[in-house]
Amino acid sequence: MKHITDISELKTIINQYKSVGKSIGFVPTMGFLHEGHLTLADKASKENDIAVMSIFVNPAQFGPGEDFEAYPRDLERDTKLAENAGIDLLFTPSADSMYNCDPNVAVQVKRRTDVLCGRSREGHFDGVATVLTKFFNLIKPERAYFGLKDAQQVAVVDGLISDFFMDIELVGVDTVREEDGLAKSSRNVYLTEKERNEAPRLYKALQQGAELIRAGERNPEAVIKAAADIIGTTSGAIDYVELYSYPELTKQDKLEGKVILAAAVKFSKARLIDNIIIDIHEMERI
Ligand code: PAJ
Repeated sequence: MKHITDISELKTIINQYKSVGKSIGFVPTMGFLHEGHLTLADKASKENDIAVMSIFVNPAQFGPGEDFEAYPRDLERDTKLAENAGIDLLFTPSADSMYNCDPNVAVQVKRRTDVLCGRSREGHFDGVATVLTKFFNLIKPERAYFGLKDAQQVAVVDGLISDFFMDIELVGVDTVREEDGLAKSSRNVYLTEKERNEAPRLYKALQQGAELIRAGERNPEAVIKAAADIIGTTSGAIDYVELYSYPELTKQDKLEGKVILAAAVKFSKARLIDNIIIDIHEMERI
């Protein structure tokens, strides 16, 4: 595996790959890798000639008071894990090289951000879309791999790729979970023992909501209440439990088509998110 920090060096290598017709699969991450990231890496490696991973804790997507400084980092461990997962090129740029201190342009996301995490994390998705535009231009991937654990991020990237006519196939990958159902996350290390024991109820609550939909419930409020009741039994504070069309993320009076039931809970040192996407048309056809 090659490890590159320098942008001009990266450009040279990417151009070499391109000139001999190699396909590139790209996995953007902020590091502190776990099985969720590694599943994306493995898929990228299998589906492309070259798998590129970036590790970059992107300052532009953290708001004031969020955990930018405290975000867990372990590059030495990540390097080994990335290599074992089949990554050919690891790119870990510095913040200074990715951002001018006085940028000329930043990407502003217009839709799909006034709900779920976008509502409480102002500017977060602008920061995500800006850094991904830079990475996509540098790495020129045929395919980019994203986890559906961050389903709103996938919806935003879908909008970015289509609005800016990017020739990139967006590959959404199912959420990888612990055995008890908790979605793997770099932030899980910040849960206390008690919170860690309660955290799987987040997914249980979403499953319960999905079960109601499967049983024929079409009133979003009834589904949201059932899920919120279960999450309410944890010591965490509910940030949101919401239900929208997917990927448009618009509210429905009566559930139909593809929908997302998503929740965020604030524990003492970690805010956890999770979601379930349900295709009602597909379900009704079976
Ligand atoms: P990060 O949180 O490091 O996540 C990198 C990728 O791993 C994202 O696509 C995320 O959805 C995916 N991922 C995380 N946990 C997962 C799980 N349990 N199962 C499956 N996939 C999982 O998301 C970001 O970084 C950043 O916003 C980034 C896209 C890199 C832009 O800075």
